[in-house]
Parts: sequence; structure tokens; C-alpha cells
Amino acid sequence: PPLSRIINVQDMEETAKKLLPYKALAYYASAADDSITHIENARAFSRFFFHPRVMRSVSGCDTSSTILGYKTSIPVYISGSALARLGHPLGEVNFTRGAYKAGIIQMVSTNASLSYGQIAAARCSSDQPLFFQLYKHKNDTTAAKRIQEIEALGYNAIFLTVDTLVPSNREMDTRAPHYLEDFENQGTKRKSDSKDDQEEVDILGTAGGLIINNDNDMTWERTIPWMRSVTRLPIIIKGVQCVADAVLAAEAGCDGIVLSNHGGRQLDYSLPPLEVLYKLHEEHPEVFKKTEVYIDGGIRRGTDVLKALCLGAKAVGLGRAFLYAQSAYGETGVVHLVRILQREIRFGMHSLGVRSIDQLSPEMVERVDWQPA
Ligand code: FNR
Repeated sequence: PPLSRIINVQDMEETAKKLLPYKALAYYASAADDSITHIENARAFSRFFFHPRVMRSVSGCDTSSTILGYKTSIPVYISGSALARLGHPLGEVNFTRGAYKAGIIQMVSTNASLSYGQIAAARCSSDQPLFFQLYKHKNDTTAAKRIQEIEALGYNAIFLTVDTLVPSNREMDTRAPHYLEDFENQGTKRKSDSKDDQEEVDILGTAGGLIINNDNDMTWERTIPWMRSVTRLPIIIKGVQCVADAVLAAEAGCDGIVLSNHGGRQLDYSLPPLEVLYKLHEEHPEVFKKTEVYIDGGIRRGTDVLKALCLGAKAVGLGRAFLYAQSAYGETGVVHLVRILQREIRFGMHSLGVRSIDQLSPEMVERVDWQPA
């Protein structure tokens, strides 16, 4: 359909799902085990209701904000997701160009299907910010080389993913034949060193092959200081799934925390990030003063974004929605998706009685203990 017929995030997803080859769809759509966390990530938003305020001046409403000090037209970023070229020949470059045109920021996955240099070179201006999502390689020297490479290429921040130490059980993906062969790149090492690991790769399908060399000996005490010793870039921990770890991440001096369960793709029955955010806000409000907090997973509406921001999130990430947008319409799809969200966010702000993002506050939302129809 023409892009004008795509009026919400759901439309974009449905359109892309009709176009994508099955193996690509299986990789993008899959989630761990029974997809409970994947489904609940989105459903959690339906337990939070607004207290809209009226008779407040909302003229000149401004949806823009910042992430790590970088300006963004809406408090939304493209979360790093692997293999964008499974969906469209230009892959990650659609994100780079679309993000620039729409005024938002792209996070590039360690397992991008183009080289980090190709993506950096696709920036539309020398000051376009780019974030990097890091899977730390188990070998420190290899990991340090990758970090220095992306620093030299001008990436502006490192999101260290900590929820994916080992491949998880994604059955849609397992059933689809392997699809990696055409998408080898510098960041993707498919063959494993050991025979046992290789058998595991063969069972797990696409995702298993991508993350087999991830460091599963990371700790707060060792890894964060090590990261600081090899880079001056801001370090954000992606994949914090409970309040206790959010507190530890803030104590470890990270520049940001992403409450995320990897879009329900790792541990099924990990709590929805919105619920973790809510608890963090209730139990440890000081964390929000020490560091920026973001969430991702299940965000599909402007109201979802606003709920997270009311509860203290600085911004939110979307993974699949952007993959689907670029798969179906290339960079134009990415821009269109941002416009949809921006329109919904602006409408929500008007109705809530706020004219700028920093006016969103916890009193504007209430968690209900019933699940709407
Ligand atoms: C991901 N995600 C992800 N995260 C990461 O840190 N490194 C990666 O390489 C990938 N790859 C990846 C591939 C695909 C196909 C998906 C769907 C997701 C997780 C991603 O960054 C984000 O946390 C979730 O996608 C957020 O959930 P939603 O927006 O997809 O519901």
C-alpha cells in the first residue's frame, strides 16, 4: 500500500509481515519460549492510565528532547537490532538516513549487516550522532579493538548489552532454515571455536550464530572499569531487568541504563520494562538523578512513550517497528514511522496539558490493577 495508508505502528508491522520472506520474518518476529514476555511487554502499557489536566496552556507544544545531551525530535531512538539487510537491501543505511531526516538517533548493532564504517559513512552530516550497541567479545583484546574502531569512526556512545550472554530459545527462528550465509560482516563471527558450541549454533538458528562469542564472564567490578580503561565514550548498560541491577548500574557510574529484556527474545517471564521502571520509580527515585534511564520493548503508540516518560524515562527505544518500517519502505518508512509517533506524542501532550517533554511527571499516570479488555 502507499505510505499514506500506513497510519499507525501496527499498520507498518502488518504490511512488512506480508512482504518479508519467511526466514527474515522468523528472525525479526521471534521471541523466547512461549513469547509471554514479548506479549506482556506491550500489554503492560495498558495497565497505566493518564490523569490529563485541562485549562493549561499548550500552544507551541514541543516534542523534542535530548539523549545523552544529543538533540532528538522526539524522545525515541532506533534500538540496535541485527541484520537489517534481511528486510531491505540498504539495511542499516535506511536507519542512518531516515534517522537524520526525522531528527532522531540510530543505535547500530554489533551484528549489523553492513560494516560499522559503511554505516558511519552514510551519515548525512558530520555532526549526526550515532550510538553503538556492543556485544563484548569474550576476548578482551578483540573487544578493545572493536571499541577503538567504532570510537575512531566517530560513534558517540556505547550501549553494552548485558542480557545476551548466551543464545536463547527462539523457536520460530529454530524452525526456519539458517539465513546467515549471505550476511557475513566484520562484526559477525559465525563459526565457533568448539564443536559443542557449533552444535548449539546449529540448533539455535540465526540468533545462535550471532552471539556465540559473547563474553559470559562480565561483572560490575571487572567489566565497567575495563570499559572505562579502553574508551572515553559514554557507557550505557542495555538489558537491565530488575530494580536491584538498576541500582547497581547507577552505582557503577554508568552514563545510562536501558531497562530492557531484549524485546522478549532472551528470558521468557522477565518482567516488562515498564513495570520495572514503575518499581524503580517507587523504590529508588534517586537513580533517575544519577543517570539517564531508558526503556525498550513493546512500544507501539505515542501514549506508550508518554507513559514511560512520565515515570522518569529519558527516552524509549523501538526495535522491531523500525526493522519493519525499513523492510517495507526503506528510509522513507523510517521517517514515516517517526512522523506517526511524533503526531501521536504531540496529541497526547496537548491532551495531558503539557507543552514540553520536561513537564511530564509521575502524577500524570496511575497504575491500575485490572487489565483492560
Ligand atoms: C534485537 N535486539 C538487539 N539488541 C541488541 O542489543 N543487539 C542486537 O543485535 C539486537 N538484535 C535484535 C534483532 C532483532 C530482529 C530484534 C527484534 C531485536 C533487541 C532490540 O535492541 C530491542 O531491545 C528490542 O527489539 C525492543 O523491543 P521491540 O521494540 O522490538 O518490542
